[in-house]
Amino acid sequence: MQTLTPYPHLLHGCDYNPEQWLDSPEILAQDIEYMKQAHINCVSVGIFAWAALEPHEGDYQLDWLANIINKLYANGIYTVLATPSGAKPVWMSHKYPEIRRVSADRIRDLQGGRHNHCYTSPVYREKVRAMNTKLAERFGTHPAVILWHISNEIQGECHCELCQAAFRDWLKERYGTLDALNAAWWTAFWSHTYTEWEQIESPSPRGETNIHGLNLDWKRFCTAQTRSFFENEIAPIKAVNPRIPVTMNLMGFYDGINYWEMAKSCDVISWDAYPTWHTNQDGDETYNAFWADAYSDICRSMLGKPFLLMENTPSQTNWHDVCRPKSWGFHRLSAISMLAHGADSIQYFQWRQSRGCSEKFHGAVMTHANRTDTRVFQEVSGVGAMLEKLDALAGAKTDAKIAILYDIESHWAVNDAKGPRNIGIGDNDLMLRMYLPFWKNGYAVDILNPEQDFSGYHLLVIPMLYLLHPDTAKRIRDYAKQGGTVVLTMHTGVVDAHDLCYMGTTPAEGLAELAGIRFLEIDPLYDKQYETMRIVKAPFPLAETYRLERLCERVAAEGAEVLGVYEHDNPCMPDGMPCLTRNSFGRGTAYYLGGFAEDSFFSDFLISLAEKLGIEPALDTTLPHGVVAASRQAADGTVFCFVMNWTREARSVNLPYPMKDYETGKIYQAKLPLAPYGAKILVRL
Ligand code: GLA
Ligand code: ZN
Repeated sequence: MQTLTPYPHLLHGCDYNPEQWLDSPEILAQDIEYMKQAHINCVSVGIFAWAALEPHEGDYQLDWLANIINKLYANGIYTVLATPSGAKPVWMSHKYPEIRRVSADRIRDLQGGRHNHCYTSPVYREKVRAMNTKLAERFGTHPAVILWHISNEIQGECHCELCQAAFRDWLKERYGTLDALNAAWWTAFWSHTYTEWEQIESPSPRGETNIHGLNLDWKRFCTAQTRSFFENEIAPIKAVNPRIPVTMNLMGFYDGINYWEMAKSCDVISWDAYPTWHTNQDGDETYNAFWADAYSDICRSMLGKPFLLMENTPSQTNWHDVCRPKSWGFHRLSAISMLAHGADSIQYFQWRQSRGCSEKFHGAVMTHANRTDTRVFQEVSGVGAMLEKLDALAGAKTDAKIAILYDIESHWAVNDAKGPRNIGIGDNDLMLRMYLPFWKNGYAVDILNPEQDFSGYHLLVIPMLYLLHPDTAKRIRDYAKQGGTVVLTMHTGVVDAHDLCYMGTTPAEGLAELAGIRFLEIDPLYDKQYETMRIVKAPFPLAETYRLERLCERVAAEGAEVLGVYEHDNPCMPDGMPCLTRNSFGRGTAYYLGGFAEDSFFSDFLISLAEKLGIEPALDTTLPHGVVAASRQAADGTVFCFVMNWTREARSVNLPYPMKDYETGKIYQAKLPLAPYGAKILVRL
């Protein structure tokens, strides 16, 4: 069994901030007892604890932390050790103002908040390196320490002079000459040609925002700088003990930096999931649940192995518009869903509510009531007890035959473009729309960055890959040539890596040839407008018509068969222009969808396609609305099948074969009953 950390079990843990309670030893003693009752086997300590670890410059106080780690360990609780760099201490911020971030409008922060240091500042880098060296020397070989949690939710950008200079160096390295840079950025536009490197500044609302190549390179630079900061954090840790893995906790669809680049420096991926539950009166959580599972699939796909759920709330947040607690029994369901999509842990923000400051009303395992007979404590403890019985799941793989390509650089570029739809181009929505039917029907999907190898999948879905690298295009064509099935959509292959439009036939770099079509024009729609696609040749059962929203691309068929056409009630628009096409390419097939279709199209089309390709879902049955399934294979061959009911009604699933409830041992022959918000972990007999 290959587990993510040296601790060979699923993790059940939480962010723990003993530094807030150092003058309350009775609370700290109680914490350990209560953690054991809650089946907590690890805690993340050190997050934001800099002021306690180094109260004055050079005065390192690590004994309290050693004390806590030792006591926890003596009680069977392991440590996820965080570096404290996510919040700089007040003394440091005042002594070294240059570590404070400068915003895009060139104003330096005052001290306050968190996650707001400069990534370039040599002073901050040195302070972090010194702190991490101390932590690593003291705890790097401690048997309790199973994982390094680097900083916290690393994010943001800094526009200070140090960062500007580093940006120019990064550009010099990338382009060599100003001529090359001017050409790549198309700066002859509006007389924005640079004649000295020193003239280049990061994008700013008070300055330059119109050079898309600059905007894109700035984001790439911010990622590179953040990654080098991250490497600076890791180096002293790995120098002491390279065997303890490092992670960074991601924030879901946060798009400030390129997480796929950061992943290259991580041993383990972890993320913090805070879906907005219970927004609907009818209690149907289906549409709240799926995006979190999509992001879990992204995390799992980043390194091709399970990930950790570093944070979720045991009850409620304090920062949603309305902070509803998870309803009764719902925590178990949300936890099982995370396991189903590849999590090897359920961890919480937070163990104990703070008494003061801005997170005092955020949910926690221990609330201000400070007692264990609360509903939330009991539910957390129940999940902990469940995880203890699931050892065989740790490290289990997901066997996805379907890949969706998702490129954050393309996302940046298509959302930065002026036009064709400035009220939301909807690239992420399209990706999620294409993911949704697979999720609903129990098909495993890997969501890959185009750099990753997709040659082994049976179906390749490529929603709106606006920015296209020639190498990606070549690998897509090769994939199809060798027999793969590709689904391409509108607004793909439009710009190159500098955000310069491709000339000639698009989608560029041979994708038009792959699809057997040629782009003519794109017609964006206002929110309430729609067009109609009529199916004229159904390769598998489809409805007669589907509604199209947002973006309608007109294409000419150049070799492709036309499966669907635009139908207008507009005498000025010709009917019958291709909207959905199919083309044979080598031994494979490419489908092209010109219009941003409604959910039912994707559901009919993509599921039929998966079936046609012989791809098997987790459970070969028709699942009732709101019930979803997913599976993972353990090293010993056990296939775990997870079935989740996201509705408040009892549901029943027809089983294709008898299955056993892994937790209770009960055998279900033909029907699986699911309680409201119920979830079951099954294995095949
Ligand atoms: C983030 C942070 C935590 C905490 C939670 C609250 O995920 O990492 O420190 O602020 O949000 O939901
Ligand atoms: Zn800076």
